Amino acid sequence: MSEEKFSKIDRRQFLSGVGVGATLLSVNPALALQEEQEKLDPDAKVNFAGIGVGSQGGSDVDAVVAEGGNLVALCDVDSKYAAKKFAQYPNAKKFKDYRVMLKELGSEIDAVVIGTPDHTHAVIAMEAMKHGKHVYCEKPLAHTVHEVRALMAGARKYGVITQLGNQGHSYDTIRRTCEWVWAGAIGQVHTIYAGCGEFKDVYTQTRNLDKVNQHYDVPEGLDYELWVGPVPFREYTPFWVPWNWRGWLPFGTGTIGDWFCHVVDPSFWALDLGAPTSVHAEVAGGYNPTTQGLTYPSATKITFEFPAKKGRGAITLVWHDGETPITKPQDFPSDDEVPRTGAIIVGDKGMIVHGSHGAGGTHLQPASVREQFADTNAPAKKIARVKNHHWDWLDAIRNQRQAGSNFEYGGRLTQVALLGAIAIRFPGETLQWNEHSVKFTNNDAANDYLDPHYRKGWKL
Ligand SMILES: NC(=O)c1ccc[n+]([C@@H]2O[C@H](COP(=O)([O-])OP(=O)(O)OC[C@H]3O[C@@H](n4cnc5c(N)ncnc54)[C@H](O)[C@@H]3O)[C@@H](O)[C@H]2O)c1
Repeated sequence: MSEEKFSKIDRRQFLSGVGVGATLLSVNPALALQEEQEKLDPDAKVNFAGIGVGSQGGSDVDAVVAEGGNLVALCDVDSKYAAKKFAQYPNAKKFKDYRVMLKELGSEIDAVVIGTPDHTHAVIAMEAMKHGKHVYCEKPLAHTVHEVRALMAGARKYGVITQLGNQGHSYDTIRRTCEWVWAGAIGQVHTIYAGCGEFKDVYTQTRNLDKVNQHYDVPEGLDYELWVGPVPFREYTPFWVPWNWRGWLPFGTGTIGDWFCHVVDPSFWALDLGAPTSVHAEVAGGYNPTTQGLTYPSATKITFEFPAKKGRGAITLVWHDGETPITKPQDFPSDDEVPRTGAIIVGDKGMIVHGSHGAGGTHLQPASVREQFADTNAPAKKIARVKNHHWDWLDAIRNQRQAGSNFEYGGRLTQVALLGAIAIRFPGETLQWNEHSVKFTNNDAANDYLDPHYRKGWKL
């Protein structure tokens, strides 16, 4: 494809994005006018490609197809692991390298869905945005804070429609939870107890620390160089490819990275938590990932402090995972159960108790508050209901609006999780976070983990 053709396509793609309209208007009104004429038809088919489709990414592809997306191509570094999905869509073009795919397909696709492990989200999403593609990217948005910030800036710069894969963000239950908080159902919120008790053996892999140094042949069909992508190279082991990478520091973000964007999304939205001012981790058994290994501890308790803002007081968020259950708040009703995975939002008049993914099972406590805000007397619906998360993204593309968990929102949510994942490396220390300088102010060693440290040949 010629440079000229690329830049035309590129610009047209940009023009179909929401943010870029304003940018262009300030730069060149004539172009902005042209933009109006080049908008996608609201009913237009959105042509898209799936990248990393062997597991969750494959489900995302199915979900986008179910909502009318037109699948053009599938890309996966592991033709065996992705074989089922490849077979399901025989007409989709198949690729191994997303860079080759983006170049070759050019204007044949409008959008991509990314379901690769956490450590490759950023390079893939950024490359797609540079090509003017709208992006649906699985959670957490990236592996490090600087990658998250770069993706947020990239989404603004390229004016594309983005959606983080925290699908519960599009559920009715998260909306109801926000509306309860905004209606003052539980009064002034001061504390959130949240956490996750799932897949304990996956996030902590201390039992396999010795085994990952043994030699294993790379299985046929897997391009392991590409799987490692931008991060420092480590020899292949089946202990992290596929799926188990989430428990290994070089590739995954542990329980907090995997679950925070689901579990804390309701509080983050309802209370506009933004960035914390400090984060403090305690870990089980004195395990220190920085000095002792490559995997996450078997249990963590991470305390974040969020400053007061816009009509609400300061809020403490206490995250628990692994073997440490979520703290039972004072006055927690004896006939209710602390969720194994979920959150309890505590205010001075009551609590909201909910599970994961969009505040599943959300309910008010105590009974008097519950009765006061019963369905027949529910607060006004302040947030529009959407069909589902993948539909929301497609609809946003077609109608020139932003999706609910766009990179601006999903990036800030992910950032908190990643700050927690860094704190795990400094157990017992309170790390002070400065959101403006994007730095910890009292620990330089911790700042080193904000950066992805890509190997040669890779950049954002
Ligand atoms: N939203 C949810 O409910 C949910 C559930 C599970 C996983 N996830 C997220 O989905 C992502 C994938 O997780 P998973 O459990 O499916 O992992 P997985 O290891 O099972 O699958 C990842 C897929 O990506 C492919 N892949 C890896 N690197 C690639 C690259 N550079 N280019 C193309 N393909 C590549 C792999 O071959 C594999 O097919 C993660 O970010 C995870 O956090 C989200």
